Amino acid sequence: MAKVIDVMDIDDDNGNFNSAKPNLKGKNVVVSAAPPDTRATPWVEKYRPQSLDDVAAHRDIVETIDRLASGNRLPHLLLYGPPGTGKTSTVLAMARKLYGNKLQNMVLELNASDDRGIDVVRQQIQDFASTQSISFGGKSAVKLVLLDEADAMTKDAQFALRRVIEKYTKSNRFALICNNVNKIIPALQSRCTRFRFAPLDAVHVRDRLRHVIESEGLDVPENGMKALVQLSNGDMRKALNILQSTHMACQQITEEAVYLCTGNPLPKDIEQISHWLLNEPFTTSSQRISEMKTRKGLALVDIVREVTMFVFKIKMPPAVRIQLINDMADIEYRLSMACNDKLQLGSLIAAFTRARGSLVAAGT
Ligand SMILES: Nc1ncnc2c1ncn2[C@@H]1O[C@H](COP(=O)(O)OP(=O)(O)OP(=O)(O)O)[C@@H](O)[C@H]1O
Ligand SMILES: [Mg+2]
Repeated sequence: MAKVIDVMDIDDDNGNFNSAKPNLKGKNVVVSAAPPDTRATPWVEKYRPQSLDDVAAHRDIVETIDRLASGNRLPHLLLYGPPGTGKTSTVLAMARKLYGNKLQNMVLELNASDDRGIDVVRQQIQDFASTQSISFGGKSAVKLVLLDEADAMTKDAQFALRRVIEKYTKSNRFALICNNVNKIIPALQSRCTRFRFAPLDAVHVRDRLRHVIESEGLDVPENGMKALVQLSNGDMRKALNILQSTHMACQQITEEAVYLCTGNPLPKDIEQISHWLLNEPFTTSSQRISEMKTRKGLALVDIVREVTMFVFKIKMPPAVRIQLINDMADIEYRLSMACNDKLQLGSLIAAFTRARGSLVAAGT
């Protein structure tokens, strides 16, 4: 871990009250505020945590960041982890708490929509970092450079940023956010304190969903809630997006409605397909799966992915399971490369026919 530097409050160069604003040109000082509440507002934004207390899960991380920021000991930060886990929300909530109504002047936020080449580091970031800060109670507070989706930065830009961070540490903190930490050069990683945001566990996704469901007055039976949690896979953004789109399409957010709305095969459909694959002759399987696929508008790639998960639940010798899963991974890969659906359905049934042969030979 990088060391924590105690310079959140700094005197400006001449020790005077300094109200000079950092560079405000263009789009470089825009921090998302909660959008006005209209029917069209995406719930992911409407329910973006406004304060650190609103951030679900990751309490250890959030409390550590809060403690460091409140104690004027904020280090440079590197927040990483899968999408929709609260990285951006946490930094924005921290900035809101630190700067209050001075937020717009104290934070430079760059995200994926901005250019990520070396010029941005040399111009926008350096311009912002080198400008004197607004004063807080006679002292100028450190500014925050928020580099969202930092893994999209070119290597050159990252190397340039390394020097900028060093040069302007006295008056700036840098918060880097990314999904893939391996795309951040080690020299930058070592200048930051790293926090990993894991996918949210089911309990936290449920709690946060319940909060939104109550606020919006939605009708969500338990099977619908289960489907939302299952499909979100720990991605809170995905959970809220599915909830909202299902609500727009259906009155009641049932399991069936959730799966239908997302185009995902229902667990009972997967069970049925697996049953056909394991028991029916080639032509019958092919006809029935094709018919269900058309009737329910399912994508073969989703069927293959879900059937693969189902295979883990079926009792069979490990060697047979491994072979089957390998075959299905190949099919999934070929489908992702836009190979012909009909041929791949044939391959899927053939993989199961082979597995059935092995099961018979093994006497199971
Ligand atoms: N821990 C969380 N607590 C509460 N809401 C969350 C949390 N994580 C995500 N959300 C919801 O999902 C939305 C997206 O979250 P956020 O932008 O913070 O994710 P992220 O981790 O930065 O994702 P990405 O890596 O895709 O940028 C938020 O607006 C919020 O509605
Ligand atoms: Mg983000």
